[in-house]
Amino acid sequence: MSNQKLKTAVLPVAGLGSRFLPITKSIPKEMLPIIDKPLIQFAIEEAIEAGIEKIVFVTSHTKKAIENYFSINSELEKRLIQSNKENLVEKIHPKYLDKVEFSYVFQEEPNGLGHAILQAKEHVDDEFFGVILADDLLMYEIGCLSQLSNIHHENNSSVIGVFAADPEKISNYGVIDGVLDGNSYKLNNIIEKPKAEEAPSNLAVFGRYILSKEIFNHLENTNAGVNGEIQLTDAIKSLIEKDTVRAIEIMGKRFDCGSKEGYISAIINRSHSIEKYKDALKKID
Ligand code: G1P
Repeated sequence: MSNQKLKTAVLPVAGLGSRFLPITKSIPKEMLPIIDKPLIQFAIEEAIEAGIEKIVFVTSHTKKAIENYFSINSELEKRLIQSNKENLVEKIHPKYLDKVEFSYVFQEEPNGLGHAILQAKEHVDDEFFGVILADDLLMYEIGCLSQLSNIHHENNSSVIGVFAADPEKISNYGVIDGVLDGNSYKLNNIIEKPKAEEAPSNLAVFGRYILSKEIFNHLENTNAGVNGEIQLTDAIKSLIEKDTVRAIEIMGKRFDCGSKEGYISAIINRSHSIEKYKDALKKID
């Protein structure tokens, strides 16, 4: 059992968002809204639910929107109060903003997820830290990081979230080779974006990880992999040789908002859960 609380989460947000151009020319893909709330806010709320106190964004100098979004806008708050719209102040300044510490580190060039995570090294003090990829959205009563955190505390090991992927989509993801051991899988291997016929299983990595700080040493020694980028998956593969890495199948509805299909599904799904939009949806031919 690990008694140490999981305090830090790293959120890489420096990607180019090329699949969503032109909107991502000026708006980071993590700022895309699921109706009125950006993807990044779902991620922050999930982190806070899991007890995270320190959020480290790995961002790029061209992406000020995220930093602005999590900063206090006193001018707007004052105006809302003056026009008797106090109820909206909580929306733009949720109380949790005052309880978490936000830090920003910069990834100067887009060189892969592994490279992005490595930039956060100096900001991680504890033995383990969480990673959330905000474009993977989960809708469930228990947040994804909390689901991982339970297994992490039981085993004091790194834990990755996985799901059973459709065979035709498996090559978009990291794929694990693991054996069921109690209520989680113990990993023997992990492969980034394998060809369907070479995938070791149908269990694909969802963008949630709890990783041992050791991963930074492995990242420092990881060469460019798929797409010529430093892959987090390759560093995890190397970590497995020394440390136990586990995986659990995530419970809940998953949306890969890095794809347009997933993004649209997430919006429709959220609309169905809000009474007034439910009716509006029925009226669409
Ligand atoms: C990244 C990871 C991949 C993982 C995926 C989850 O890929 O490299 O292992 O399965 O996130 O969304 P990307 O979506 O950045 O291509």
